[in-house]
Amino acid sequence: MATINDNYLKLKAGYLFPEIARRVNAFAEAHPDAKIIRLGIGDVTEPLPEACRTAMIQAVAEMGDRATFKGYGPEQGYAWLREKIAAEDFQARGADIDATEIFISDGSKCDTGNILDIFGNNNIIAVTDPVYPVYVDTNVMAGHTGTANEKGEFAGLVYLPVTAENNFTAEIPTQKVDLIYLCFPNNPTGATASKEHLQAWVDYAKAHNSIIFFDAAYESYITDPSLPHSIYEIPGAREVAIEFRSFSKNAGFTGTRCALTVVPKTLTAKASDGSDVELWKLWNRRQSTKFNGVSYIIQRGAEAVYSPDGQAQVQALVSFYLENAKIIREQLTAAGLAVYGGVNAPYVWVKTPNGLSSWDFFDKLLHTVNVVGTPGSGFGAAGEGYFRISAFNSRENVEEAMKRITNDFVV
Ligand code: MLT
Repeated sequence: MATINDNYLKLKAGYLFPEIARRVNAFAEAHPDAKIIRLGIGDVTEPLPEACRTAMIQAVAEMGDRATFKGYGPEQGYAWLREKIAAEDFQARGADIDATEIFISDGSKCDTGNILDIFGNNNIIAVTDPVYPVYVDTNVMAGHTGTANEKGEFAGLVYLPVTAENNFTAEIPTQKVDLIYLCFPNNPTGATASKEHLQAWVDYAKAHNSIIFFDAAYESYITDPSLPHSIYEIPGAREVAIEFRSFSKNAGFTGTRCALTVVPKTLTAKASDGSDVELWKLWNRRQSTKFNGVSYIIQRGAEAVYSPDGQAQVQALVSFYLENAKIIREQLTAAGLAVYGGVNAPYVWVKTPNGLSSWDFFDKLLHTVNVVGTPGSGFGAAGEGYFRISAFNSRENVEEAMKRITNDFVV
């Protein structure tokens, strides 16, 4: 008889965002006239930049001509895209990353899960709490944890709490951990990391032979020039870090799908016989076996992000969402709520008023003013009592949602 991967049975009922969708759909069915505004999932709403669309249309035309048609592309991505990324996103910031160390993929979410394929099963894994749920759930699926307690914490993971008390910056652990997930600017809190903070992590990782998984999907939202965009701006990071990036949140590719993972050739980890193995070789082998690359058309669209027009259009998109975040911050602060993030990030992290639980606040907001956000507890036990509001929506919807909350929402 066929059997299943029992680890899936340890997962909590549903992935956070489908669970929110389930509750919102039930409400919408019961209240068909309600004009629901969704500021929950961080999904972009504004159209793709013109430069990207033009490049994709051109690429479609090439696919219609035998002379320029493309079949399978390189599993690692086309060199012309990898070279632009290496030059513009890394070398221009003093980060020593070569194009061959960049792997184009269909998403950071996918890659932060897939990366576990090349690591062993006995690593001690640290995550911040709250945290992007994918990091935890993919480790549960891979059998790297025990079961969850009533707060949703999985046995075997090291949780590093981030709250207002520590300014949403995790303490460097005192114990040894092997794999560490960091996300800056942070999803869900909107917190950022200074160079000094990242240097402390790199130093820790070097001292303990750990590997940092650095999720930089929101780096384009950094407006403070003192903040690093890449962990490779930090000396020593090439020996300890893998970085994940995405075209989703800067160029609006959430539906189009294009991202990248950087695995420096200087990065090694131990085989069970004690020898050092290059992680680049393993990831290259993994991608060549399980992945056939991102479509030519989409990679041409991503390449256009680096054209002068593309840069201006992407900057305009990011500024648009940042202005939404500013409106959310200002309106909620004026309404007497404590708010965090939303300055160098598209997420605003709100303390729920009057000690309401995150899900109670979610239900109240949905039922009284028909606004959807994301309960902080969905991101981890330390997120209880917080709520995330996403700035990814139209200006009209953001303004209307804030008007409803400030005028009509009574806790
Ligand atoms: C979120 O809302 O946290 C985002 O949708 C995360 C993601 O991009 O998967």
